[in-house]
Amino acid sequence: MSTLNGKNIVLGITGGIAAYKSADLTRRLIEAGADVRVVMTTAATEFVTAMTFQALSGHPVFFDNSDDTEASGMKHIELARWADAIIVAPASANTIAKLAHGRADNLLTTLCLASEAIKCFAPAMNRVMWDDLSTQSNCKRLTDKNWFQFGPASGSQACGEIGEGRMLEVSDLLSSLEHCFKSGELQGLNLVITAGPTYEAIDPVRFIGNRSSGRMGYAIADAAREAGANVTLISGPSHLSPPEVKRFVAVESADEMQQAVMSSIKSCHIYISTAAVSDYRVADVARQKIKKTEDRLSLNLTKNDDIISAVANQQVRPYVVGFAAETENVAENARQKLLRKKLDMIVANDVSESSADKPDIGFNSDYNALHIFWSSKGQLEGEQQFELARKTLLARKLITLIANRFRDNSSQHAKDTA
Ligand code: PMT
Repeated sequence: MSTLNGKNIVLGITGGIAAYKSADLTRRLIEAGADVRVVMTTAATEFVTAMTFQALSGHPVFFDNSDDTEASGMKHIELARWADAIIVAPASANTIAKLAHGRADNLLTTLCLASEAIKCFAPAMNRVMWDDLSTQSNCKRLTDKNWFQFGPASGSQACGEIGEGRMLEVSDLLSSLEHCFKSGELQGLNLVITAGPTYEAIDPVRFIGNRSSGRMGYAIADAAREAGANVTLISGPSHLSPPEVKRFVAVESADEMQQAVMSSIKSCHIYISTAAVSDYRVADVARQKIKKTEDRLSLNLTKNDDIISAVANQQVRPYVVGFAAETENVAENARQKLLRKKLDMIVANDVSESSADKPDIGFNSDYNALHIFWSSKGQLEGEQQFELARKTLLARKLITLIANRFRDNSSQHAKDTA
């Protein structure tokens, strides 16, 4: 399956004759399973029509200063957050210059500046413009800012000249974009990830559960797979379709989750526990459906084992990452959990009620905001915050951070034991 499957892609089209190839790129992106939104600069509309891209993408096209942005139901900043990747193809010399210098004078350049998505550009211009020193240094500036540069190719040009500056062919653009989602940061490592809620049975039809949807854990599992890891995903009940990981284990209760984790942990390098595991279970589960005969009903609860602590207390243990969903004193509670549970890293999310300045994040939302703390030798060592973004994007950033911390930890361990 293409790594573009299920990804949100913004295709930015600037003014250039190669814009006609972007129609085919839109079609191929959709065939690969991506959801595509097209943004056209004013110059682009002189080469190709928005109608073509609206028909191919199935969504209204975004323009500079147009009401169409409202019609499509997405504001600019939402589009910046929505994107997993932005690809500017063709990228004219003018737009490359603006992007390189952080200009935000039209919708496309504003979006690029406001987005934390993967960003790519496919230069397309006359060979003399391409060779110009300012174009070369602008491209370098962009790649230094972590933009991926695709091409250009060399050959005959629309102006009749021959040389470098042609936009890459669509199939090459597609495979380059697919490659951006394969970082290789966790190549060959074994990861065990838990996700979703646990359900603790009360009787054959009722249970105690929580609001976890599995989104955060599934996004992390997918990002880890894309980074080259062998992922075992152990999930409580969820309505989501599981990502294509190496092994998927569906469980219901905390007890089942614990058994699945402990039997998978032996050769695991990194354990990530996003699951909202029930702290308690019903001591005596009724064998038959409880009847509504009494005005009051008391349930006797007993504590579940702490799965992550069991993993962290093993003699040979993986790198252990916990999550903390908190409604108050978020950072302080998370720091305490990190040290108390002997974790290597904890990822805190604020799940207190949403408000105008704090939209719905955490449980059962596509969005989250993370405050991450990590430790070394039982002491708090560092922290980092990831602002509000889609869980899929946060998952990729978190995987990069975990991969870096894991490597640092392993080399420190090697030095200590030398
Ligand atoms: O699934 P979503 O809708 O996307 O929501 C994501 C999330 C909010 C559930 C997720 O981001 C999150 O924060 N998960 C942790 C939920 C939580 O409240 O954890 P906790 O504070 O109860 O536990 C701390 C850590 O110990 C967690 O890593 C947890 O998985 C682990 N734990 C807890 C209890 C237990 N018996 N065993 C455990 O391993």
